[in-house]
Amino acid sequence: MLYVKNLYKSYKAGKTAYPVLKGVSLSVAQGEFTAVMGPSGSGKSTLLNCISCYVPFEEGKITLGGQELKGLSEKELAKIRNEKLGFVFQDFMLLDGLTVRENVLVPKIIEGKVTREDEKRCDTLLKLFGITYIQEKYPAEISGGEKQRTAVARSLMNQPLLILADEPTGNLDSKSSRAVIDSFLEARNQMNATIFMVTHDSFAASFCDRVILLKDGNIYKQLERLEERSLFQDRLLEAIKEMSGEVK
Ligand SMILES: Nc1ncnc2c1ncn2[C@@H]1O[C@H](COP(=O)(O)OP(=O)(O)O)[C@@H](O)[C@H]1O
Ligand SMILES: [Mg+2]
Repeated sequence: MLYVKNLYKSYKAGKTAYPVLKGVSLSVAQGEFTAVMGPSGSGKSTLLNCISCYVPFEEGKITLGGQELKGLSEKELAKIRNEKLGFVFQDFMLLDGLTVRENVLVPKIIEGKVTREDEKRCDTLLKLFGITYIQEKYPAEISGGEKQRTAVARSLMNQPLLILADEPTGNLDSKSSRAVIDSFLEARNQMNATIFMVTHDSFAASFCDRVILLKDGNIYKQLERLEERSLFQDRLLEAIKEMSGEVK
């Protein structure tokens, strides 16, 4: 579904190029819930932004649902972002002047029309994430967890191929974080959604099918979840410790 091959990306400061991604290769299957972890500055957001077509990369190849992203025009990229990708950000990025319901419908509003079918899908999503009762409220009137569940619902409105989430639980307490992770799990289980999530939270990551550890612009290790969640979290913490050099 998603293929990233030999992705190389650097940022320039004056004449010097500072490499951030040094040949990252990975693939994600339909219906997979994947987490990316790694120290701050290891290139997690950059990787996500390359996949989102927000930042250009120098070398490598990204293929999404069979379509290669390189060489597309800004207009084509905008279309992919609206039709094939769903986004969830750390700071929610809801529109303050719209209600919860309208925020969920935003991808359709952008397309220019909201059909009865869209309204129905919106109802289904609101129900699935337990936010029907606040659908007429504005973002300023709801909690952080409710905001993020609204954002998850919005990300699914267009039935995207892939949901990209950058630290979606970064601004939430543990109870709300859990509710957001449960939303992702529901989306995967009920709708076969594919989720690619950057997180620094090993608890959140331990619910995923697979965790990719990024270090200094390279994939350090990938861990497949084979065991019960808490045991997977233990294994994850071990690997992170090993990665940061505390254990040889
Ligand atoms: N727009 C940018 N211009 C220059 N340097 C950047 C930019 N974005 C990120 N960087 C640098 O790239 C490195 C990786 O950043 P980032 O991908 O945000 O890491 P992470 O999300 O893992 O914390 C950092 O050293 C950061 O300072
Ligand atoms: Mg980041």
